[in-house]
Amino acid sequence: MSLTVRPVRGRRDLDAFLSLPARLDGAHPAFRTGLREDLLDALSDDNPLWAEGRGERELFLAWRGETPVARVLAHAHLASNLRHGEPEVGFFGCLACPDEPATLAALLDTATAWHRARGRTRLRGPYDLTITGCIGVVTAGFERPASFSQSWSAPHLPRLLEQYGMTVAYTATTLRCDDLSIVDEQSMLGPKQRAWLTEPGVTLRTFRMDRFEADMFAATDLLNRSFSDNWGFVPMSEDEVRFIAAPMKRVVRPELTVFLELHGRAVGVGLFLPDFNEVFARMGGRLWPLGWATFLWHQRKVRAAVAQFIATDPTLQDKGVMRIIVAELVKNLKGAGFTSLDGTWIGDSNAKSLRTAESVGMREKHRLAVYQST
Ligand SMILES: CC(C)(COP(=O)(O)OP(=O)(O)OC[C@H]1O[C@@H](n2cnc3c(N)ncnc32)[C@H](O)[C@@H]1OP(=O)(O)O)[C@@H](O)C(=O)NCCC(=O)NCCS
Repeated sequence: MSLTVRPVRGRRDLDAFLSLPARLDGAHPAFRTGLREDLLDALSDDNPLWAEGRGERELFLAWRGETPVARVLAHAHLASNLRHGEPEVGFFGCLACPDEPATLAALLDTATAWHRARGRTRLRGPYDLTITGCIGVVTAGFERPASFSQSWSAPHLPRLLEQYGMTVAYTATTLRCDDLSIVDEQSMLGPKQRAWLTEPGVTLRTFRMDRFEADMFAATDLLNRSFSDNWGFVPMSEDEVRFIAAPMKRVVRPELTVFLELHGRAVGVGLFLPDFNEVFARMGGRLWPLGWATFLWHQRKVRAAVAQFIATDPTLQDKGVMRIIVAELVKNLKGAGFTSLDGTWIGDSNAKSLRTAESVGMREKHRLAVYQST
């Protein structure tokens, strides 16, 4: 039966788009479902990423007769194109495809044509959805399921992308420490760190829920300033932060975010979360019909944490601040009963972060690659 690729239109298509990864890859032992509502929100018009002049997207499904067999998102993040002087780049993401070169080619030909019609000639991805989210396909570590904020993809995808003629644009790693009890947070504090901690005006504190928005903005301000030179980075706008932070209000664990302040000004932050994927798996990837109460009840029992990001004020880097924050977070994680720590991706060019991750016993979990057309 012949294959057709069509844009997603209507509820039935959208449902097929959201369900496709589980249908294709659900039998793989490392497959874990994300939260359906999360992706729906991210793709909806409510996401400021898609506001007029900032970005655009089209969801595509490949059909064989009445059966959806593959999916891809074609999207543009215009702030990224502008910041990096790459008006020719169009992203793809949400890739799910069987081990069929012709199906992948049909999907990516469609995404390419969609971008070309809008003046963009180079396809790059996967991006789910921007550089501050999940990027890349997994190229090693397929046997390890993704934790929250990590991606997992089927083992055949790198080969299919290469057969299609794409080349690797960037590589990254996710890391994991299986057993936090072997990490001695006190020994992470050397003379540099101890000197900081006796400095007048230096304080460590956890996230304050009574000033949720102010703390969220303090954290993302540090993220925006410190990540500025990282590959592909685009600062997050206030409305993007608000959009992403809104659902987090219910789930942030204050003790898993630590600020280091200098005379009341945040100069370093580490933001960790429980591994919500464990909860999503129990709920079958849907909030409905059990809702937030069930989610919150299950999430208290999660013993795995995921580092979302760590950032130090650019004027104070290489002075030992990150180690202080990480040591404090390890102490808090253990105190709250967490036994393992994962991290979101770290680019291969980010030697400092890789070094610190290794110093807390984290080891490579997945290798990731972002591909692009030539
Ligand atoms: C990564 C980051 C948080 C580090 O913060 P920091 O306060 O400068 O880090 P520290 O001074 O505590 O420690 C840096 C470590 O990297 C080491 N390091 C510095 N440059 C390095 C290099 N080029 N290669 C390898 N290691 C390096 C330092 O020796 C130090 O290790 P040590 O503590 O064992 O001596 C900071 O650079 C940052 O905010 N970067 C941008 C955001 C980012 O990439 N965050 C991490 C990904 S989530």
